[in-house]
Amino acid sequence: MDKKIAVLPGDGVGPEVVEQGVKVLEAIADRFQHKFTLHYLDVGAAAIEKFGTPLPSNTLEVCQRCDAILFGAVGDPKYTHLTPGQDRPEQGILQLRKKLGLFANIRPVRTIPSLLHLSPLKKEKIKNVDFVIYRELTGGVYFGTRGRNEDGSAYDVTTYHAREIERIARMAFKQALKRKGKVTLVDKANVMETSRLWRETVCKIGQQYPSIQLDFLYADNAAMQMILNPRDFDVILADNLFGDILSDEAGAITGSIGLLPSASVGDGTPLFEPIHGSFPRAAGEDIANPMATILSVAMMMDHFKLYEEASVIRHKVRHALEKGIGTAELHLDTVYSCSQMGDMIAHLITDHYELPHS
Ligand code: IPM
Ligand code: MN
Repeated sequence: MDKKIAVLPGDGVGPEVVEQGVKVLEAIADRFQHKFTLHYLDVGAAAIEKFGTPLPSNTLEVCQRCDAILFGAVGDPKYTHLTPGQDRPEQGILQLRKKLGLFANIRPVRTIPSLLHLSPLKKEKIKNVDFVIYRELTGGVYFGTRGRNEDGSAYDVTTYHAREIERIARMAFKQALKRKGKVTLVDKANVMETSRLWRETVCKIGQQYPSIQLDFLYADNAAMQMILNPRDFDVILADNLFGDILSDEAGAITGSIGLLPSASVGDGTPLFEPIHGSFPRAAGEDIANPMATILSVAMMMDHFKLYEEASVIRHKVRHALEKGIGTAELHLDTVYSCSQMGDMIAHLITDHYELPHS
């Protein structure tokens, strides 16, 4: 298979984790005789420094012509204070999602048996947790008008059209058909009008999927249920903001946000990125966990319908963790750096290698 892949390392630990993802892409290409042509592009603070904008037009154009995007992270403390909306590094990813029409962000959350001790929750609570978050990604408060009034007050407007809800709801129901058959809509329908439109619209779409159980949870309760009964979830459907918040919580209960991948899909070139951010404090230290990025590469393989390739990547990641090897934050027996992790996974893939029994 011949594919063009845009590689956007971005800021903070982005370049380090993406480098490991690329090693894995190359290992897969080597073992399965594929050709992946990589196009490196600037985004985020890195692009502001060079071109004065977080999403240069060349970056967008090349992304549009590629088959997939591998994305690191954006965000830099240098721009945290006072920098107004449009000029922040975060606009690099937000505008990319919007301009490519990537309206669905898919975040699978699964616990790994050998890592249950990492969770702040009791082992029996998180054993066999397996759910996926479908987060709406191009609407809601992220893209509404915002600003300041003359009296010094500020506002952020949340708007949703039924069609924006319908298209992601359909995806969520289809996914539930392949899984445990349950969709949970997370909203604040007791307070917000957009949430009431979400309920109405999702109920309507749900009628076309009579075998799927459709549940509703207010967002505050959903945050609590994720801690009390995380195994009860199957497909979580949420708007842009609630989905963002719940996915970090999901990262915490599984033990490390450094293990969670994501795929953003919709109209244009699909984008694959770890859900953790740029983690500026660790930048350049070679300590970040590259597994979320490597598992995002596995999601990219699934998207290309290269299912064996995807499962080889997942198997090798799990294998290394089960052998007690991981980055520092996992507190396993053997601590590897970010680049050592990438080298090892790539090596396990190319050489069909399994680690010896310890
Ligand atoms: C994410 C991130 C982004 C978001 C930031 C970097 C703008 O937190 O992908 O979850 O809020 O969507
Ligand atoms: Mn987030």
